[in-house]
Amino acid sequence: MTKKAFIGVAWPYVNGDLHVGHLAGYLIPADIFSRYLRLKGYKVLMVSGTDCHGTPITFEADRRGIVPQELVDEYTPRILELIRTYRASYDLFTSTTTENHKRISQEFFLNLLRNGYLIRRKTIQYFSPQENRFLPDRYVEGKCSYCYAEKQRADQCEICGRTLEPGELIEPYSRLSQTKLILKETEHYALDLKKLQPRIEEFVRASSHWREWVYRETIGFLREGLKERTITRDLDWGIDLPIDRIPLEQRIEDINNKRLYVWFEAVIGYFSASVEWANISGNRWEDFWLDPDCKHYYFMGKDNLIFHTIFWPAELLGQHQGYNLPYFPAVNNFLLLEGQKFSKSRGVHLDSLVVANEYGVDNVRYYITSILPEHHDTNFKFSELKETVNNELVNKVGNLIHRTLVFYRDKLEQEVGNQLDDKVIKKLEETFKSYDSSLERVEMVLALRNILELVNFANQYFDLERPWQLIVDNPRRCRMVINSLLQVISNLKVMLWPIIPQTMENLSQILGLPIKTKEDYNQLKVNIYKKIKLNNTPSPLFQKI
Ligand code: MF3
Ligand code: ZN
Repeated sequence: MTKKAFIGVAWPYVNGDLHVGHLAGYLIPADIFSRYLRLKGYKVLMVSGTDCHGTPITFEADRRGIVPQELVDEYTPRILELIRTYRASYDLFTSTTTENHKRISQEFFLNLLRNGYLIRRKTIQYFSPQENRFLPDRYVEGKCSYCYAEKQRADQCEICGRTLEPGELIEPYSRLSQTKLILKETEHYALDLKKLQPRIEEFVRASSHWREWVYRETIGFLREGLKERTITRDLDWGIDLPIDRIPLEQRIEDINNKRLYVWFEAVIGYFSASVEWANISGNRWEDFWLDPDCKHYYFMGKDNLIFHTIFWPAELLGQHQGYNLPYFPAVNNFLLLEGQKFSKSRGVHLDSLVVANEYGVDNVRYYITSILPEHHDTNFKFSELKETVNNELVNKVGNLIHRTLVFYRDKLEQEVGNQLDDKVIKKLEETFKSYDSSLERVEMVLALRNILELVNFANQYFDLERPWQLIVDNPRRCRMVINSLLQVISNLKVMLWPIIPQTMENLSQILGLPIKTKEDYNQLKVNIYKKIKLNNTPSPLFQKI
């Protein structure tokens, strides 16, 4: 039976352009992973969309004096263009503004209410006496009461990673007017995480295959003991509560003015997008969400960690529908730009479309793959981008391919017989194995290193065997050497395709071979071609920066 996998990719806020931190945080790794699984013959469902509600959006709209919808309309096409440019292979990229998403988010809410996981809570909220209204999280800054970091947002401390409840900031002030805020009472629904804790804990404890630091951090949150979390807000931009379907005695005060908390509904997007995709394509979402053999992978930056390892599993568990839980949260640390954290306001920004235009999509994809912050923060450096492309892609990968193909065509007239060098094929097999096991564990930096090792091996082999001399001294051996190298190249295109798809499709064009053959299906293995007949004149695949 065909294996299946669900891949959920973080939903970008529509409050700005995506910088290369977003590329490294989720876009590129998710795409590599889905392409890799598709190569292996998996049926993959990869979804995401724009995250349109909540204060991240209203804050930016207020700052610019426009309405939130204008922001959605402005950034959606730009995000779509970016996805096209980088060839991210989503099965569906939708939006949290759809009717479908609203309906399903309300369903999730009602199920949680019915199943006894929502409690009514009178909470205190930041209130601006000057503007006479409640101020949402994003509008508020102050000191984190856990680690005492200054200038932290009201909903989450960037320094210690904790999510914060209203009232947990010391000396709060409005980011818009810089005036002091007071706390005032308001009623909300809260998700009873305390009640769900045992089931969440059971789920996390069974997940020791997660990245070590992701597991440790999640266990840390559980050790502190989960507290109830409010899932509604005093806001007018967002998903309404399904008031008519909430029993009278369970309605909170002032319910008309409440909206679902953006993080509560955004994660539901993974599910609602699957339903939307099923409706459009005539497939069944149940195949991905109810079959326990379908593993769920999520790709995100580390500021999203707790929402994917605790909140989202909690919402799913609370449905009592047997939905699949996250199997692997592929959480990435931060990518810094020349040593600094991305911040538009501080001018640390690098637009992904601009870099793509300037340096080439596959060059950027390759460099970012080599520095993915899988286990610690990493640094994007222009000098290193140039070095990596020139030294690795051009001098190693490109050189191996080019000199082999040119020799094959010009000196051997594409006649190599079918003898192979066992030691090359053995190396190829070993590489496939390590590449496959690296990617199985979502270790892409490692997978790239496995590939590069093979390339180094093959280049050394070329140099040692000296085919330009062999053709005179031992033409038989010469043909075996080149034939073996051709096998390396035709298999390299498979392994590199998830990382640099366009270039490998160009190579496949030159070779006259598909990226994968029918026989590759259901496993990733060495494919020996009896006869390779070049389709096109080999031209260099990579150019120096
Ligand atoms: N919009 C969020 C961010 O940029 C990510 C949302 S991911 C989802 O940090 F799970 F909520 F969809
Ligand atoms: Zn803190």
